[in-house]
Amino acid sequence: MAIYYHQNNRIFTLETARTTYQMKADDLGFLLHLYYGAKVSGNMDYLLTYYDRGFSGNPAESAMNRTYSLDVLPQEYPCVGTGDYRSSALIVHNGDGSDCCDLRYVSHEIRQGKESLQGLPAVYADREEAETLEIVLEDAVSAVRVRLLYSVLEKEDIITRSAEIINGGTEKVIVEKAASACLDFLTDGYDLICFCGRHSMERNFQRREIARGNCIIGSRRGTSSHQYNPAVIVARQETTEDMGSCYGMMFVYSGNFMCEAEQDQFGQTRVMMGLQSDLFHYPLEQGEKLVVPETVLCYSDEGYGKLSRQYHRCIREHICRGTYSHKIRPVLLNSWEAMYFDLDGEKIYKLAKEAAALGIDMVVMDDGWFGKREDDNSGLGDWQVNEEKLGCSLGELIEKINHLGVRFGIWIEPEMVSEDSRLYREHPDWVMKVPGRKPVYARNQLVLDFSRKDVRDAIFENICEILDQGNIEYIKWDMNRSIADIYSLTTDQGKVTYDYVLGVYDFLEKMMRKYPNVLIEGCSGGGGRFDAGMMYYTPQIWCSDNTDAVDRLRIQYGTSFFYPACTVGAHVSAVPNHQTGRTTSLRTRGVVAMAGGGFGYELDPGTMTEEEKEEVKQQIVQYRKYAELIRTGDYYRLSDPFCDPYVSWLIISQDGRQALLSVVMLEIHGNMKVNYVKLKGLEREALYEEQNTGRSFYGSALMEAGLPMPVELGEYRAYQIELQMK
Ligand code: GLA
Repeated sequence: MAIYYHQNNRIFTLETARTTYQMKADDLGFLLHLYYGAKVSGNMDYLLTYYDRGFSGNPAESAMNRTYSLDVLPQEYPCVGTGDYRSSALIVHNGDGSDCCDLRYVSHEIRQGKESLQGLPAVYADREEAETLEIVLEDAVSAVRVRLLYSVLEKEDIITRSAEIINGGTEKVIVEKAASACLDFLTDGYDLICFCGRHSMERNFQRREIARGNCIIGSRRGTSSHQYNPAVIVARQETTEDMGSCYGMMFVYSGNFMCEAEQDQFGQTRVMMGLQSDLFHYPLEQGEKLVVPETVLCYSDEGYGKLSRQYHRCIREHICRGTYSHKIRPVLLNSWEAMYFDLDGEKIYKLAKEAAALGIDMVVMDDGWFGKREDDNSGLGDWQVNEEKLGCSLGELIEKINHLGVRFGIWIEPEMVSEDSRLYREHPDWVMKVPGRKPVYARNQLVLDFSRKDVRDAIFENICEILDQGNIEYIKWDMNRSIADIYSLTTDQGKVTYDYVLGVYDFLEKMMRKYPNVLIEGCSGGGGRFDAGMMYYTPQIWCSDNTDAVDRLRIQYGTSFFYPACTVGAHVSAVPNHQTGRTTSLRTRGVVAMAGGGFGYELDPGTMTEEEKEEVKQQIVQYRKYAELIRTGDYYRLSDPFCDPYVSWLIISQDGRQALLSVVMLEIHGNMKVNYVKLKGLEREALYEEQNTGRSFYGSALMEAGLPMPVELGEYRAYQIELQMK
C-alpha cells in the first residue's frame, strides 16, 4: 500500500520506496502541504507554525484568529482571493466577474491503479504498480470543483499530479490559469535548474537561486519550445550531480506551459508547474471540465544524477508506448543533410544502395518528396507524392528499396500549410489567422487549425493515403514554426492553444492505432517539442537540428537530465558540419551519436572515401553491439561539458555486468596534462575487464582514482571503452 489516510487528523500520506509526501485537510477544510522528501515517519503537521503576520489576511472562519493565514501556510493548490498573495495554482473568472476561488475539502477516494487523462498523455502503470488518490475540493459559492489526482508509483519513486477543474455551478466561468502541481517548501535555500536554449542549441543547463520575487519560465509558442524545456529541478543550494537533495517536476505536455518559482516574504519557497496563463482563457459552461496535464514529481537524496536515472526509467517504462518502446530502433540514413530539397527518386535509391552496402537498416526520405516542394516556400499541405520527381510511384520506389534489404521511412509535417499550395487555395479558412490582420509567417508557412476536428480528419485522410502506398516503416513528424496567430473559426478563442495540442495528440493517437508497427520520430526543427508528452506517441525525437558533434555533447548533456537515451535521435553527419563549419573525426561523431538510441546517419555516403565507409561499417557493428545497453542501461554523467575539459558519460547495464564509457576531449594543449575520468555506479569490490586491452580494475579504483585518458594530438579525440564485470 502506498497511500494512507488518517481519519482523525485528515492527513494523507503518499509513500514511495524512498520518499514520503504528506498533506492535510485542516479544520477549515484547506488542503495544506506538510512534507515531500526522503522517507519519514509520523505526522508532519508539527511543522506548521502560526503567528500573527502583519498584512497577511485571515479567513472569516478562523474567527478572529490572526495567526491563521493562507499567505504563510504551505498549500497543495493555492487560489486567488483567499488571502494568499503569492502566485496561485488556479485562477477562475466567475460568472459574477470576480476571480475568487476558495477551495475546501469535500471528499476523497483511494483507488488501485492509475487512470489515463482524457485526451492527454500521462504516465501509465499496471493496476498493481500504482495507487491513486483523488481529493475533491470545492468553492461553495461558484460551485467550481477541483479534482486533484495523485498517483504513486511506489517502486519507481514517482508521484504524478494532475487536476480537473469542473464547473459545478450554473453560470459560465473562465479558467485563466491552472497548474497541475504546486510544491511549497517551508524554507529558502533552493535553486531552480532549467534547460533553456534556442533553435539548434537546445536544453542548456542553467542554475539560479530562487530568491525573493518570481522566476518564471515557459512557452507561449504553441509548442513546449527550444527556448525552455517543460521540466525543472528544484535543488538545495548545496546539491550537486551526486550529492544532496533535489526534486524534479516534469510536465507531460507539448504546448504552452509555465513554471513559476517564488520565494515569499518569510523565505518560504513555492514552485508550480502548469499551463501557460497567457493566451489562455478556458471557458467552462455548466458541467464542463478542463483537464490540466500531468506533472511527474520525483525526489532524489543523491543529487540530480540519481534523479535523472529515475526519470529515465519512468519515461522508458511508463510513458513511451508502442511496438518500438521496448525495441532496438533501426539505424537510419536520412536524406536531409545529404541532399536537402535537391531530392529525386534516383538519389534516394542510390542512398538506399549505399545504406545496404554499409549495413544501415533504413533510408528516410526527408522533406521535398510531395506537392510543389522545391524549397521551403511552397507545397506544405499537399500530401501528394511528386511522382515526376520520384520517377515512379512511391510504392514502386519503396519496393525497389526494400528489395535491397533496406527499410523505408518518410518525413511529414501535418500541422502546416504553405500559402503556395493547393490545400491553402482550396481551404484558406483552415489556417490559424486573426480576421482582419495579416498573419505572422515563419519559414514562410502557416499553421493549420488542429484544434478543429474537420481539419485534422482531412489531413489524416491525406496522410493515410500516402502511408498506404507502400511498406512505410518509419515516420518523421515535423513541426517547423512557433504559433503566433491564435485564432480559430470554430473553437472558442480562449481554448485554442490547449485544444491545438490535444488535436495533435488525437491525430497521433489515431496514427499509432492505425499503424501500430510504424516507428514515429518526433521533431520540431530538431528539439523544439522534445517533451514527455510527445514521448507518449513518439518514442524517439530528433534531439536538435544541430548535428555538430561538439555542440551535440552539450545539447545531449542537458537533454539527459530528464530524458533517457532511447528517446534521443542522434546522427553522424558530414564535415565540415553544416551548422557550425567545424570538423571532427568520424570516430568522434560516431561516439557522440551513440549516446542516443535513435542512431543514424545524415550524410551522403557517396561522397565518402573507401576508408571512411569501412569505418562507418565498423561503427554500425559497434553500435549494434551496444544498442540494447544504450537503450536500457543506467546513465551516469561523469563530467560537466560547460566547465570540464572533457565530456564523459557511462552507461551500465541493468544487471551491472556491462558498462560502456564514452569520453570526448574538449581541449588540447601543448605538453598536455593527463585527464583522469572517474567512473560511477560500479560495484566497489567487483573486478572489471577493459575489453580492448584486457586490463582489469576494481570498481573502487575506477570510481575513486579513475582511468587516465591518453594524451594524443588532435582536437576532440573520442574514446569508447567497454568494461565487463569478471
Ligand atoms: C526541420 C527538421 C530537419 C529537416 C527539415 C526539413 O528543420 O528538424 O531535420 O527535416 O525540417 O524541412
